[in-house]
Amino acid sequence: MNNYLIHAQSICKSFQQLKVLDNADFTLSKGEFVAITGKSGVGKSTLLGILGGLDPEFQGKLLVNEIDITRTSSAELSKIRREFLGFIFQDFHLLPNLNAFDNVLLPAIFSGTDTQKVRDEASVILSKLNLRNDNTATKLLSRGERQRVATARALVNNPRVLLADEPTASLDEDSEENLFDLLDSLREERGFAIIAVLHSKNILSRADRVIELKRGVLNEKHS
Ligand SMILES: Nc1ncnc2c1ncn2[C@@H]1O[C@H](COP(=O)(O)OP(=O)(O)OP(=O)(O)O)[C@@H](O)[C@H]1O
Ligand SMILES: [Mg+2]
Repeated sequence: MNNYLIHAQSICKSFQQLKVLDNADFTLSKGEFVAITGKSGVGKSTLLGILGGLDPEFQGKLLVNEIDITRTSSAELSKIRREFLGFIFQDFHLLPNLNAFDNVLLPAIFSGTDTQKVRDEASVILSKLNLRNDNTATKLLSRGERQRVATARALVNNPRVLLADEPTASLDEDSEENLFDLLDSLREERGFAIIAVLHSKNILSRADRVIELKRGVLNEKHS
């Protein structure tokens, strides 16, 4: 028994003639921090979307929390995404006119799970990520602050896996280190695993494994 959090086997994905993933295999164990690298356009975001249950259109086998998500109902898939996975998008996907708290709470509001417990948790996670819990619209926040709001939103449900697509793109080095320092201490406390598309050498050196996506397959990089 391996008890992988995510176990992907022979994943294939094409856009018309373009084969992006060609029998890609991937595993994620409890608490691991796995970095995915690769050249622009190679398919990193496509892969992350599949692993995060956002894109059901692929061939191959994908177990998330030991559930075969290619055979599960869309209701069950939504539940897995909500309870087991947290996703940070490259461009954050925040609602610019809402404050940080409301952005963090929004997924819970949509899914009808915005209980007092979730509201309390939203306040806690904002403060752990060094964010003010006030009425400032997120469009007025700095890029690093917006990044941390997106991180808070991904973590508010206490997921087992955080997926992050170039979470520190266009952040300066200090903000980048700062985000991963905060993630390290939250990981120590909560034990979630991370799959992150990353480029920066400083951050790659923090990962337990670095995997390169090249010509549709994933190769472990040895340091
Ligand atoms: N919905 C789509 N329809 C058609 N082609 C797509 C679609 N999404 C992605 N592609 C193509 O698939 C390839 C992989 O895209 P993807 O966004 O996964 O790359 P990436 O490695 O994340 O690149 P980057 O580092 O620039 O973010 C690209 O050639 C892209 O044009
Ligand atoms: Mg991408």
